[in-house]
Amino acid sequence: MARIKTAVNVEIGLKPYSTPKDTKFTPLHDGSHSHRLYDGRRHDGLLDLLQDKLKAMKEASRTSKKEGEDDNEILPLLRLESFLMPQPPVLLARHPSSLSGSPPKGENVSLKQLYGTYKEQIGRGSSGVVRVTFRPHSIDHPTGGQLFAVKKFSHREKETTKKYMKRLGAEFCISSSLHHINVIQTLDLMKDDGDGGFCQIMEYCSGGDVYTRVRSLGGDGLSAVEANCYFKQLLRGLEYLHKTGVAHRDIKPDNLLLTRRGCLKIADFGNAECIRLPWEKQVKLTTGLCGSFPYISPEQYTVIEYGKPKSSYYFDARAVDVWAAGVVYMDMRTGKHVWRYAVVDRDAQYEEFVRDMEEYGCWDPIEMLQGAACRQTIYAMLDINWKTRPSVSDILKSDWVSSVHVCAVGESGDSM
Ligand SMILES: Nc1ncnc2c1ncn2[C@@H]1O[C@H](COP(=O)(O)OP(=O)(O)OP(=O)(O)O)[C@@H](O)[C@H]1O
Ligand SMILES: [Mg+2]
Repeated sequence: MARIKTAVNVEIGLKPYSTPKDTKFTPLHDGSHSHRLYDGRRHDGLLDLLQDKLKAMKEASRTSKKEGEDDNEILPLLRLESFLMPQPPVLLARHPSSLSGSPPKGENVSLKQLYGTYKEQIGRGSSGVVRVTFRPHSIDHPTGGQLFAVKKFSHREKETTKKYMKRLGAEFCISSSLHHINVIQTLDLMKDDGDGGFCQIMEYCSGGDVYTRVRSLGGDGLSAVEANCYFKQLLRGLEYLHKTGVAHRDIKPDNLLLTRRGCLKIADFGNAECIRLPWEKQVKLTTGLCGSFPYISPEQYTVIEYGKPKSSYYFDARAVDVWAAGVVYMDMRTGKHVWRYAVVDRDAQYEEFVRDMEEYGCWDPIEMLQGAACRQTIYAMLDINWKTRPSVSDILKSDWVSSVHVCAVGESGDSM
């Protein structure tokens, strides 16, 4: 894959800083920044968690306090915010029995016993609905309750049970084998207590997804500093996936989850593909069209173009993720889709992009980005020829991305 040329940084175009009324992102005096991405839709679950943590601490303080001391002397000093500090990372476990303190998973252990009761719905996609569950403080979990995200897989129209099982099994096998701070942790796959449909249990991200964050600004797009922080975390997650032999194939803002304090986690492995097994040196090329239209790269549409040679149907799925990440960056900065389809005859915006790139070597929406080095990287990622697109590792090594500041939480990882 191609390397990125170096370029000089010039500040022009889209707003580099966040608007003062936006309380979810704060640039700090020392050049760093902080995120406060708490999503109001998820209020009930968090409230339960706070009350439960409070109860647990009350019990702990009661057992440790000396005679004559009053609970109320200790508790008001504990600010609610401190209860929402990240918990120690949940160990990734294919079987919950290996989760510290969980009861062994026998035949009769229900989803409710292991992961608690359903609270509100937090998302919906083509696979089904995602809800948050709350497992309260108990003898097994003496430090207080925990929230989980539970994705319930529904049957697609005309989908046989065999295909349903294959689909959710594939998603679980790939996602549960991944361990990285920028990739969502998948903990378990089990039957729902009610209708017996299958549910995937994951760590819960309370900051919503990048789509919701971008839309919360009403079409303005994120500031360069905020978008760059998410972008670098996305690239780190993608580099890990590609090195592990996995291509995501559905990178889009809805599948990029955020913790309350701005750690980004790649989610939704429903279209992911194993492109290289651990003992293989070469990745296998892939074919087929999948993902969401605005993020689908041009080479994926070749399969529906008649008369093309069969060899042109195959491409490197890592390059597909690179293209999609480039489109996500444009989405984050402009607050809108740059095109709907990367097909010249179907989309006037994309046609203009291809024509301008051929004629002038540049395109207005990309020219609006801050810094020539940033523009150079985005042009390279949106190379219409997948063979000359840079790899994620090359992008991370580029002058621009290596100079991007990721907040402390994004650097160290965060849960919830
Ligand atoms: N672990 C999580 N924590 C918090 N929210 C989540 C979590 N997982 C998913 N969500 C929310 O639910 C939405 C749908 O989840 P997901 O993308 O996994 O479902 P899907 O049905 O596979 O989606 P798609 O339509 O992209 O195929 C996400 O966009 C996100 O807003
Ligand atoms: Mg999704």
